[in-house]
Amino acid sequence: MAHMTTTILWQGRHFVGGDWVAGGEDRFESINPAHFEQVLGSYPRGGRHHVDAAVAAARKAFPDWRRTSRIRRGELFDRLARLIHRDTEKLAETLSRESGKILDEARAEVIEGLHMVQYVYGTARQPTGQVVESEIEAKDLFVRRKPRGVVAVITPWNFPFAVPLWMLAPSLLEGNTAVFKPSEETPEIGQRLVALFEESGFPPGTINLVHGLGHEAGEALARHADVDVVTFTGSYEVGAKIRQAAAACDHKTCACEMGSKSAVIVCEDANLDLAVSAAVLSALKTSGQRCVSAGRILVHQRVFETFAERFVSTVRRVRFGDPLDPRSFSGPLINQAGVDKVLRYNELARRENAEVLLDGGRIETDDRAAGYYLSPFVYRQAYRPGLRTIREEVFGPHVALIPFVDDHEAVHIYNDTPYGLSMAVITEDFRRWRLYRDECDYGMGYVNLPCIGAEVHLPFGGVKRSGNGQPSAAALVDAVTHKTAFTVNHASEIKMAQGMSSQV
Ligand code: UN1
Repeated sequence: MAHMTTTILWQGRHFVGGDWVAGGEDRFESINPAHFEQVLGSYPRGGRHHVDAAVAAARKAFPDWRRTSRIRRGELFDRLARLIHRDTEKLAETLSRESGKILDEARAEVIEGLHMVQYVYGTARQPTGQVVESEIEAKDLFVRRKPRGVVAVITPWNFPFAVPLWMLAPSLLEGNTAVFKPSEETPEIGQRLVALFEESGFPPGTINLVHGLGHEAGEALARHADVDVVTFTGSYEVGAKIRQAAAACDHKTCACEMGSKSAVIVCEDANLDLAVSAAVLSALKTSGQRCVSAGRILVHQRVFETFAERFVSTVRRVRFGDPLDPRSFSGPLINQAGVDKVLRYNELARRENAEVLLDGGRIETDDRAAGYYLSPFVYRQAYRPGLRTIREEVFGPHVALIPFVDDHEAVHIYNDTPYGLSMAVITEDFRRWRLYRDECDYGMGYVNLPCIGAEVHLPFGGVKRSGNGQPSAAALVDAVTHKTAFTVNHASEIKMAQGMSSQV
């Protein structure tokens, strides 16, 4: 697409071994999704060569960093927290412009990132291992965590500040070093974050930044033989490739958080005011572009008509507009590919005989025509196995309302997707939510809440195609460390466990 280039605000650089590096002539641009003719910044397109340099810098910094006291490492996060506090408004504005998120959500995301940093600082003085009893009285047993080494952090545009921190903060606290590749849609906020790490005093090489495209820099990083762990949030397709790349390397592990077809389940006894709010927030915050966004609202048939009417009238009322305008409920989609995908699924829903309750599509009436704005598409779909629109991830304002007959059918419909990330059940009945809690496949479960809005001191990750069993946020510590068993004998002779003879 040709852009009527106005003044380019931002000039990107890689950050390798403590130096800001201009990179080559080959560059890519970051575009404002609310005004796609506005180029926000220009960034070097990193390739193999830059990834090699960044991984080498991270490897070089690793021994000294892992030997540094965990408490000292943690203290740098205290400084980082202060800097994020200082810059919250500026960061939120940058994030909003680059990702199209409304300012309120952008600010909440910066705060979410701040919480991760505060959490990591707080855990620096917490015990990390265990003292375990032995069969042999003279033996002391310890379980101790060791950092894995160089961690690659490959992150998406929909949470370009908080998600990198979910991964970078625990990795660095535990003594790993990192190479970070922000999404090519949101390079500026990624770069600002790295500049704050630098200002906080993290030693050169402990955190490195390579800009670039997913299929070039991202892939080179995921395949790099000297990377020990790949942490990734993004699509299932890319996550599947990362898992294959990891399997080809003896030592490499990965923590992948991928797609979803999350849902809100509205039971027959639900408080319908709460149900409507929970459903609208879950489906349409971030214009449906959270990994945890609800593409499906399952509604008991007895309350279906009332719920559907109220849901649709609320959705008609909420405004999809300028991210910097406080009246906007949500902003544009990220790019043309995102818009095209939603429009394809809207069409597919019609072909699958959906009853369209609210027709959605490109907003072309006012200056929103110059952005990637879509109005929501809401439809009623009777459940049948194999329907694509109610099983596949769409990532936009595309919402299926699906009636169900009883709780067992709702559990079945909920589980009939390849994904399992987030689930909310709206009910006043404690027996009912327990059934959903135990029978549904998810990583994050909610009662009487939206299925979005997790807090960072919880594990964040899913099952099936949504995750590979290595949740991030607070739980990432498990992916970036390995547990060692350390045994010390205090006697002057050897006594073996399991009753084995120590006679030689
Ligand atoms: C994502 O969905 O991409 O739970 C991350 C939430 C946020 C994080 C979402 N705390 O909605």
